[in-house]
Amino acid sequence: MYNDTSKEILSGGCLITDDYGENLYNRQRWNGEKMKIVLINASSRKNGATSKILNEFSNNLSSKSNVEVNLINVSDLKLEFCLGCCQCYKTGICFIKDDAEIISKLLAGADGIIIGTPCYASSISGQLKTLIDRGHFVIEQLLMDKHAVGVVTYENADGGSAFKALKKLFIYSGSKTVGKLLVKLPFNSDPIADEATKASIKKQSDKLYNSIVNKKKSVTNTIIHFFVFNFGIKPFVLKKGDLYSGVLDHWKNRNIDIKQ
Ligand SMILES: Cc1cc2nc3c(=O)[nH]c(=O)nc-3n(C[C@H](O)[C@H](O)[C@H](O)COP(=O)(O)O)c2cc1C
Repeated sequence: MYNDTSKEILSGGCLITDDYGENLYNRQRWNGEKMKIVLINASSRKNGATSKILNEFSNNLSSKSNVEVNLINVSDLKLEFCLGCCQCYKTGICFIKDDAEIISKLLAGADGIIIGTPCYASSISGQLKTLIDRGHFVIEQLLMDKHAVGVVTYENADGGSAFKALKKLFIYSGSKTVGKLLVKLPFNSDPIADEATKASIKKQSDKLYNSIVNKKKSVTNTIIHFFVFNFGIKPFVLKKGDLYSGVLDHWKNRNIDIKQ
């Protein structure tokens, strides 16, 4: 179920449409072949506002002949909470057999990612936080060189705080944030009925696509990541030695310099 030759099926029945695991580490930068974009709807509601926005992104991007999209709903995932045992730092992989590592692998093999979350209590959804913790995004530098767009829907206040959490995750995990979409709307209303929102989605879709094609870099994101990684994450991991050998293996495979 979890490693079915070249295809992978999530617990919710969703089929991942390509083998993102193959040449995983060689795909840190788009090389002109089919562009892979992964979208994560971090709302439990498959027909809610966040989902509708991500579906519109997906339609825009998949209309381009050289783009392959995979839209994942967190509600399709079997996802346990992180137990905090830190075993994955040693082994490189979480011992809990659910969908977390499949999604991690899918993201690592993507060129672009779009994460959409509803604002819950002034931050990202709990489902997204669980996925991030379980997928060891930051310590593994899982999103190294990905082009990322963050989407937040909210009803009243603090959509910006949720986006900040998302942006921090993107930068600390090595990606560059190329787009941002905050949509404030009444509960259960249709964001796509609003032409201005539709136009923003189109604009952000094109921005993501062009950023990948032109291998754009973000100077600010690169500088922040440089300091966070070299003065925070790297010395911390190196000091742990063997206990974090799984993390070091991931870094080596991603050509991250592991010398002090
Ligand atoms: C548990 C919970 C917490 C929420 N917290 C906030 C909040 O802090 N600020 C806000 O503006 N909206 C908040 N909302 C409203 C949702 O962010 C908003 O309705 C969102 O668009 C729902 O997305 P969905 O339709 O994709 O599920 C909250 C909703 C829930 C269920």
